[in-house]
Amino acid sequence: MSDMDQNTQSDAAEEARRAALLEAGRLLFARAWEFIISVSKFDQLPVPDGIEVAFAGRSNVGKSSLINALTRRKALARTSNTPGRTQLLNYFRADAPVSIVDMPGYGYAEAPKATVDAWTALIFDYLRGRANLRRVFVLIDARHGLKGNDLGALTELDTAAVPYQIVLTKADKIKPPALEKLKLKTLEAISRRPAAYPEIIATSSEKGTGIPELRAAIAELAGYEA
Ligand code: GTP
Ligand code: MG
Repeated sequence: MSDMDQNTQSDAAEEARRAALLEAGRLLFARAWEFIISVSKFDQLPVPDGIEVAFAGRSNVGKSSLINALTRRKALARTSNTPGRTQLLNYFRADAPVSIVDMPGYGYAEAPKATVDAWTALIFDYLRGRANLRRVFVLIDARHGLKGNDLGALTELDTAAVPYQIVLTKADKIKPPALEKLKLKTLEAISRRPAAYPEIIATSSEKGTGIPELRAAIAELAGYEA
């Protein structure tokens, strides 16, 4: 077989794999997702039931909105115009071997220091100590790109060897060429980070951009093989 035939064949196989994962993701999020519990202390975490994926990122980046978009629920996770809405680890589950965890945002300067310290301690205890946590989706506002405190968070994840993937949010707020540029720039910025997944998903919770791809990524992690 010629190289070209082989390439065409593996491209077709990859295409089929992606299509199967997109379908698995669609089915996973066609289920009824429910709020399970809010956790303020590490020892209150629910008994592990399958794998977990967590949504992290600066305050107001759109974590809770993205969970609502994934689960097709308007207000499953509480969202707000004011930063600091999500203050606990919030668990969401469906009849599937995966839980989604909404986390408080970092970098919210207005909250009292004691509150921020408590959130930070909870977040890092969770990120370092949760054995069934498979991936942290680190959300980055497409208008702003990676900021200093994002890089700090990525370094914590690299140090603790917690796998993470960058998800750009609010993609509807910038033009497609600027979005492409930011994707490339962000890929370059994470290229030498050991725990970073080398693919970036650009999303808009408002327009639905990237939602099928993010569902597929979660389905793959949950073991829905393509
Ligand atoms: P905290 O819980 O405070 O850390 O915030 P969060 O990251 O959960 O953000 P949240 O989902 O509450 O959204 C913050 C604001 O951004 C809200 O006003 C949302 O309507 C808005 N927002 C979220 N996603 C999008 C999006 O894809 N496009 C646009 N245009 N706005 C968005
Ligand atoms: Mg939130």
